[in-house]
Amino acid sequence: MRYRRADEPKGSEITPESVWTARRSVVKSLLGAGAIGAVATPGWAAGSPTGRILEAKHNPAYGAEDTPNTWDDVTTYNNFYEFGTDKSDPARNAGSLRPAPWSVTIAGEVQQRGTFALEDLLKPHPLEERIYRLRCVEAWSMVIPWVGFPLADLIKRLQPTSKAKFVAFTTLKDPVQMPGQRGGVLDWPYVEGLRMDEAMHPLAFMAVGLYGRVLPNQSGAPLRLVVPWKYGFKSAKSIVRIDFLERPPTTTWAASNPREYGFFANVNPAVDHPRWSQKTERRIGGGVFAPRIQTRPFNGYTEVASLYSGLDLSRWF
Ligand code: MTE
Repeated sequence: MRYRRADEPKGSEITPESVWTARRSVVKSLLGAGAIGAVATPGWAAGSPTGRILEAKHNPAYGAEDTPNTWDDVTTYNNFYEFGTDKSDPARNAGSLRPAPWSVTIAGEVQQRGTFALEDLLKPHPLEERIYRLRCVEAWSMVIPWVGFPLADLIKRLQPTSKAKFVAFTTLKDPVQMPGQRGGVLDWPYVEGLRMDEAMHPLAFMAVGLYGRVLPNQSGAPLRLVVPWKYGFKSAKSIVRIDFLERPPTTTWAASNPREYGFFANVNPAVDHPRWSQKTERRIGGGVFAPRIQTRPFNGYTEVASLYSGLDLSRWF
């Protein structure tokens, strides 16, 4: 990653949690308790959310302690090098991506191999909303109401063979739609990967939307991964291919600079990046004077710790 000084995001427009909660409960009662409906059209989020509304059910088990960032924060401060290396580039340049029609190729050690239209791949999966923190390796973070479904549900349906020990996710490669791919800042296409037990963890999530709307292009339309206990770069965007593998895949950031980026990339305040501390983070939208937040092991999602018991996390960073 090229670490330029990031553009400071707009001043704090975060909705106080009490307001978020109150509005959320109004919406819930309008929908009927537990009903499946469009997740609150979040008119209270700064900047009006745009895009098609998704039918999804809010899952209260995730995100109760955090106040989501605004729509503007989430959609104008992005890392998506296929559209440029500045945080503001993806929002400006991602209009050239055509997220429909879209297909995804499933390959490797799996029964259901082939190329599937995205709608067919998604059809059996009811959508839910989960509020997850995203903590970037660059030491900033956001809180985002994602819409999607557990990755484990998709994997079970695809039926990996007993040889499948890893899963790789590959982003579209098309320099016409993705102008950043005309340059060599990374080796394209972007590839990320998980060990099978990580991919099957109930927190690992396939997102198709945020704030109750389809994903905007800059956020990884039409399908992206969200792995909330890992640094943001594990969350591959605009996925066109999923491979089930016996061996770990070569992942983009680890290949580009193995000293700085490992395969696991678990959020870990105890292991500094070679060029800066990972002990704290800056919550986007808090303004320049907001106190920095202590970064928590696994980004606070400590239920994943047992996946790594016996693994030296300073070596396998
Ligand atoms: N996926 C692709 N294809 N290209 C990228 O450059 N950047 C990663 C990740 N997924 C990236 C990507 C990084 S470094 C981060 S922090 C997150 O996306 C940022 O997600 P956001 O822009 O939606 O906040």
